[in-house]
Order: sequence, then C-alpha cells, then structure tokens
Amino acid sequence: MDLESILFRQGFGSRRQCRALIAEGRVRVAGEVCTDAGEDLAPGDLTFEVDGTPWRYRERAYLMLNKPAGYECSREPQHHPSVFALLPAQLATRGVQCVGRLDEDTTGLLLLSDDGQFVHAYTSPKRKVPKTYVATTRHALDDRQIQALTDGVLLHGEKAPIAAAAVRIRGERQLEITVNEGKYHQVKRMIAAAGNRCEALHRDRIGGLALPEALAPGAWQWLEEEALLALRA
Ligand code: URA
Repeated sequence: MDLESILFRQGFGSRRQCRALIAEGRVRVAGEVCTDAGEDLAPGDLTFEVDGTPWRYRERAYLMLNKPAGYECSREPQHHPSVFALLPAQLATRGVQCVGRLDEDTTGLLLLSDDGQFVHAYTSPKRKVPKTYVATTRHALDDRQIQALTDGVLLHGEKAPIAAAAVRIRGERQLEITVNEGKYHQVKRMIAAAGNRCEALHRDRIGGLALPEALAPGAWQWLEEEALLALRA
C-alpha cells in the first residue's frame, strides 16, 4: 500500500493533507524521513512517525477510554466537551465512534471503534452484553430495593419490567449492578424506580473486560487481542 493511502486510512486527513505531510518531511518510516507519497509499504505491522509521534498501522481501531465526568459521548456535544477531545484527532477522522453511550456525569469504561459490525454487536439489544456499574446512592440501600432491582422494575415507556442481571451491595450507599440492556439512563432509572436515587455512576466492566486500574481518568489505550477476547467472555 502506498504511504499516502496508509496515512489516509489511519485518519491523518484528506488525501491532499496526507500528501502534504509527506512532502513536508514530517513522516518517517523505519527512522528515515520519507518524502515519496507513492512509497510502497506492507501495512501489516508497520510503525511510522508523524511529527515525531509513532503510530502503528491498524486496519481497524478498537480502544477503551476511562471516561471522566463532564464529557459527552457525542461528536457534536451540546453542553460539555466531547470524549473525542481526549483522543488523537486521527481517530475521529477515521470514523471511530462510541460503542454505546455513557451519560455526561457517568465515569469509567467506554469502548470506541471504527468497526461498524463490532459497534453494532456490542450495542445490539439481542446480544445482551453484560455491563457492570458501581452506583453511589443518595439514601441508604435496603433489602427491599435490592429485591426490586433483582425482580425487575417497570420503567416509564417500557412494556415489561427490567431486572438487573446481578446486584451486590458494596456499602451503605454503594451497589454493584449488572444490566444486559443499554437503555437510556437505564441504571439511574432502575435505581429511582426501586425507591432510591443514583448520585454517581461508574462503569467497571463490559462482558469479561474490566477497566484496568492503571488507566487513569481521561486516558485511553488500544484494545489488543487479549482484551477483545476478554470482552467476549
Ligand atoms: N445507565 C445510566 O443511567 N447511565 C449511564 O451512563 C449508563 C447506564
């Protein structure tokens, strides 16, 4: 694949912008400046540098972000900055999108990808992907509330009650809750329907993939093969 196409596919701008980056000597391959946009390279495991920053060629982008509060999962946010402001611009340029959405004030594990099938698979209600949250509540939790969440609560606009796949009390005002759906404000609405109020929400896990402790709020990392396998577990 020629160097221009490699840069273009990785999101470094329009074809014209990619050609300009190369012509201006801003791209290095194997440590050497390459000014030939037509240079034929095997993209496989290629690592190149743009303005000194290394970038590994990836046919598809799969990543996770530790979403901080105060960011919207939208490319065109209304009231707060977009989560895309926390990522290299090339990811948005190449069409990376959020795999489901977290509310502006929800923190934790957010997946992003430019693989449409992957995004669909992990957001489809049919797939029933378990998502685990830690919720901090305004009022002390009691057995009746936990039972309601376990048995199912009827949310406004839904025909049938929705039950948590798992619920575990972690403290007087903290519970761990797993849901298989991805409905709008689902966990907050379920907790409200059970007679309490969610004051803070953090997503810890999707499928078998846990948010790594070392991933600081606002930081992101690629999902390598192992993480993608864990996700399916
Ligand atoms: N449920 C919610 O209420 N909010 C989220 O951000 C995610 C799940």
